[in-house]
Amino acid sequence: MKKIALVGAGRVGESAAQILAKEEICQELVLIGTREGVAQGTALDLAECAPLFAFDTQIRGSTDINSIADSDVIVISAGLPRKPGMSRSDVLDANAPIVTQVAEKARLLAPHALLIVVTNPVDVLTYLVWSQSGFERERVFGLSGTLDAARMAGFIAGEARVSVRDVRALVIGGHGDTMVPLPRYSTISGIPVSEFLSEAEIERIVTRTRGGGAEVLALKKTSSAYDAPGAAIATMIDAVAHNRHRLLPCVCVLEGEYRESEVSMGVPAVIGAQGIEKIIELPLNTEEHKQMQESAKAIREDLRRLQAPGRVA
Ligand code: 2OP
Repeated sequence: MKKIALVGAGRVGESAAQILAKEEICQELVLIGTREGVAQGTALDLAECAPLFAFDTQIRGSTDINSIADSDVIVISAGLPRKPGMSRSDVLDANAPIVTQVAEKARLLAPHALLIVVTNPVDVLTYLVWSQSGFERERVFGLSGTLDAARMAGFIAGEARVSVRDVRALVIGGHGDTMVPLPRYSTISGIPVSEFLSEAEIERIVTRTRGGGAEVLALKKTSSAYDAPGAAIATMIDAVAHNRHRLLPCVCVLEGEYRESEVSMGVPAVIGAQGIEKIIELPLNTEEHKQMQESAKAIREDLRRLQAPGRVA
């Protein structure tokens, strides 16, 4: 892969960039920020790791959004992070115009790129980026379940006292309080977690997963998480760069899947070189389906706030 642009030179972009550079996922990484010198300084700092990690990835920083030109992948993490006590939706009004500008620039300067949205509230902003870019839905997706499922897998491994290497968890729905952790589809070496954990333990893990981002934010106070989000972004891009056809939960624009349309939310998806290759429709039980509907309802409330613009012609 030739070029990845990370729009947002904060810690999430930096964390993802360090992993992508070290893995030599692409030839060129561009970090784009708004504060003069910050993206350039971060890029220089990362580049100075090259001799130690033996990577040849070229990294540069810029404050010029036109630096996204000809990118293969554009990661959008720019915007205000929430503060302790805030929900992700509380930064919607501040972040919508930021991601809109990136989507419009991508349409003009990187018309073949995949767009990965990280900025919160990621579900509704993925829909906005899709509608403003005019790209087909397969090329616009958001970071949600890959991060949430990683958190859930770590919690399962801790409770069950097994290696995280053997744990697979699944989280769908919105990336927020209404997210839908799925213990029924979570396993340890293929064995359902219910064989290892009690209902009470599983419920505790589900609750902790829903609050995963808020737990880190409450501890750090001045910053939301960035290491796990960065790792999750790199995981998704690795699936694209190596055309791995990985099944990873992420925010997708739905056109009838899970009986939902004109909304975007976290669903299991197969990710490869062309982006979203397939959305997997899981058989959900009554409670799981009810939670997905509640999640969609919460995202639609954000969409209504946005007066989601029609799709760009
Ligand atoms: C999180 O869950 C920042 O939304 C991101 O940590």
